Amino acid sequence: MSVKSSAVAHSNIALAKYWGRSLDQNPDLNIPSNDSVSMTKYGIRHGIHLQTRTAIAFSDAYEEDRAILEGVVLSRREMERILRVVNPLREYANIDCRFRMMSRNDFPTQAGLASSASGFAALAIAAADALGVELSKEELSTYARLGSGSATRSIHGGFVYWYTGDSHETCYAEQLCGPDDFGMSVVIAIIYGGKKDMPSDLGHELAYTSPFNEVRIKRSQEQAREIRKAILDDDFRKVGEIAEENCIYMHAVMMTSNPPLFYWHADTLRLIKSIQKMRKDGLECYFTIDAGPNVHCLCRPEDLYEICKMLEKAECVSKTIPARPAGDSYVTKEHLF
Ligand code: DP6
Repeated sequence: MSVKSSAVAHSNIALAKYWGRSLDQNPDLNIPSNDSVSMTKYGIRHGIHLQTRTAIAFSDAYEEDRAILEGVVLSRREMERILRVVNPLREYANIDCRFRMMSRNDFPTQAGLASSASGFAALAIAAADALGVELSKEELSTYARLGSGSATRSIHGGFVYWYTGDSHETCYAEQLCGPDDFGMSVVIAIIYGGKKDMPSDLGHELAYTSPFNEVRIKRSQEQAREIRKAILDDDFRKVGEIAEENCIYMHAVMMTSNPPLFYWHADTLRLIKSIQKMRKDGLECYFTIDAGPNVHCLCRPEDLYEICKMLEKAECVSKTIPARPAGDSYVTKEHLF
């Protein structure tokens, strides 16, 4: 047999974040300690759509599994994460052929932008499609999760809620509302494009060493529900305020872990101050920061280009990427090989 499929998925930014896996579950399942909420992002400038395109083929003719990302054959550790997604799908389909996978991001991998969310979401969709496994989007999100936690949410477009659940099957993501149903956009301000010292999959393990982690888990669970309600109530201000608070809680845990994780640079704090100043001056916007130094500025869609201009004034910003909510990830006939 020989089958091939390709899929496109988008990156996402968490408004209520996932940091740390549940201690009651097998850590390989990437089941988080709290629910999270995100916006799936579609970049709208310079051809940077914040998308990953992945093609995967299964064939009797292949002698081994092989995966290539951005032209580079993947290492053992990276291959293990890919197998965590592909192996259960192969088992489900009862197909025992080897695969070839090729994946490409339309954003510079060196821009310090996480690609695991879009990457593993595209992989789960393409692999399931190629193997003829028919799954709902919610079920697909559980397979994407096995590669990367945040990929769970990138299966859907728009605004997305990821439930902790209490098992592999009940830990899935669902769409809260479509891309046009809630007025929020985001500008990513790039201040540093290099690799981070501690990849987030290792950082998750350290969360439990922080004395503030329990407080963060409890409050994040509330924040996720409050943000969900605020999105459904169309309350931009509330979403922004809680997203900022949630981001600070997560970084407080990172900084107080053992060893401590300082993802912020001096320029990260500089941009936080600029965003607070812009807000004070009447341009309503809020910051959020993932496991890295770059800053996401949440804003109303009509203020997107004004926010880009304001952030570009800061000397430390090398580039801004404006983005609006993306549509769902999808299967495509445009294959990479
Ligand atoms: C800070 O999904 O990158 O972006 O499951 O190990 O791939 P792995 O972790 P990852 O963690 C995301 C952490 C975060 C917050 C979030 O996206 O919720």
